[in-house]
Amino acid sequence: MQVHSFEKVWLGAALLLIVGFIATVTYGTAGAGVKMVDDSGGEIDPEAVKSGDTGTGFDDPGVVRQNDSHYVVYVVAQQFQFVPGSGDNPIRIPADTRVTFRVTSADVMHGFSITETNINTMVIPGQVADITAKFDEPGTYGLVCHEYCGAGHHAMGGSVEVVP
Ligand code: CUA
Repeated sequence: MQVHSFEKVWLGAALLLIVGFIATVTYGTAGAGVKMVDDSGGEIDPEAVKSGDTGTGFDDPGVVRQNDSHYVVYVVAQQFQFVPGSGDNPIRIPADTRVTFRVTSADVMHGFSITETNINTMVIPGQVADITAKFDEPGTYGLVCHEYCGAGHHAMGGSVEVVP
C-alpha cells in the first residue's frame, strides 16, 4: 500500500495536535500549569483543626510574634467565620513588618482574600496556605471569603487592622 506523501504530512499534523492536547490537559491538571492553591504550608488533619488538637499554632489561632521584623498569623476558616478576623476579633498586625498568614480550614473549602492587596488564596481542608506580605500603609483592610462555602457564605468576612 502506498500513502500519498501529502497525506502523510496531514496524518503527522493530526497526531501532533492530539499529543499536544493531551500534554496540555495533563500539565494543567497534574503539573504546575494551573496552581490555584497555595499549599506551601504542607498538610494538616482538618478534624484535628476542628478539635484544636494539631499541636501547631492552629490550636490557639492568632497573631504570633517571631521577632521585631516577623509575625505569623494562624487563621482557621470555618462556616462562617475566620478565627481570628471575623466579628469583634480583627487580625491586628504592625505596619512595615513581614507578616506570614498561615490559613487552613476546619470544614469545607473557603477563600481568603484581603482587600486592596494581592493576598488571595483558596483555603482547602487538609492543606495549609502560607502567604507572606508586608503592609506599608496602616489602616483597616477587609477580609473576604470568596469561595462559596454554604448558606452563610455571603456573610463570611472580617477585617485586618494594620497599626503604625
Ligand atoms: Cu467561607 Cu465562603
